[in-house]
Amino acid sequence: MRKKIVAGNWKMNTTVKEGVELVKAIAQQLNRIPEDVQLVVAPPLTHLSSVNQTLIESGCSSQIALGAQNCANKEKGAYTGEVSANMLATLGDGTNRGVEYVIIGHSERRGYYGETNEILLEKVRLALAAGLKVIYCVGEELSQREAGVHFDFIAEQIKEVLFPLSQDELKNIIVAYEPIWAIGTGVTATSAQAQEIHAFIRKTIAEKYGDISEQIPILYGGSCKPSNAAELFAQKDIDGGLIGGASLKADDFIGIASSF
Ligand code: PGA
Repeated sequence: MRKKIVAGNWKMNTTVKEGVELVKAIAQQLNRIPEDVQLVVAPPLTHLSSVNQTLIESGCSSQIALGAQNCANKEKGAYTGEVSANMLATLGDGTNRGVEYVIIGHSERRGYYGETNEILLEKVRLALAAGLKVIYCVGEELSQREAGVHFDFIAEQIKEVLFPLSQDELKNIIVAYEPIWAIGTGVTATSAQAQEIHAFIRKTIAEKYGDISEQIPILYGGSCKPSNAAELFAQKDIDGGLIGGASLKADDFIGIASSF
């Protein structure tokens, strides 16, 4: 049985106070979602300590895990403005879990900040070495889909960043398929389009890692909302979602997570 995960990518939204209120509201509605669904909230860096503390106080820090949206591709040193994977992993004080997940390779990082597969591999390696679980994002532009090159493009994103990893490392990878044309646009991939790519990603991973690919959660992201989550999550290879806009409203986020 693969893990079911619904992760909220808050992007650059909310103040610290609003973020704490949001996570409290999510915690209050946890009884609406099945116990085997792992929630992850990934707020901005400035919010991590406060949100971590709120999760501990609410007693929900096992069903709601904390994630970061990015980490540096360097271990430490003179990299002004960067935050290392190890800094994220050691945010907790040892008595609580602190940051457990990190999103790497989001299309906004690839597109706006020039993060190549090569840089992303460095990030993934450092994150795994620090003990974090990685939500690794892949996905094509509309023009690539229209030109029919989307399978090749996604295969390259998988091969260049995941194939250098060992089998043990791969076990801490979650893949998120996020078609760029569906992110923040209100246009969702149909469940058939998403399932087709998820199955393709699993098959691609199996080429190198065999049966381990059956254990890797593959999440869908891109305008996922309470009204379309159930149909997406019912697909054989869709194990949950990476949620942007709808993760900023507790009702919607919980509504999505209760759609399994
Ligand atoms: P969206 O974003 O749900 O707002 O489309 C998803 C994402 O970018 O992770």
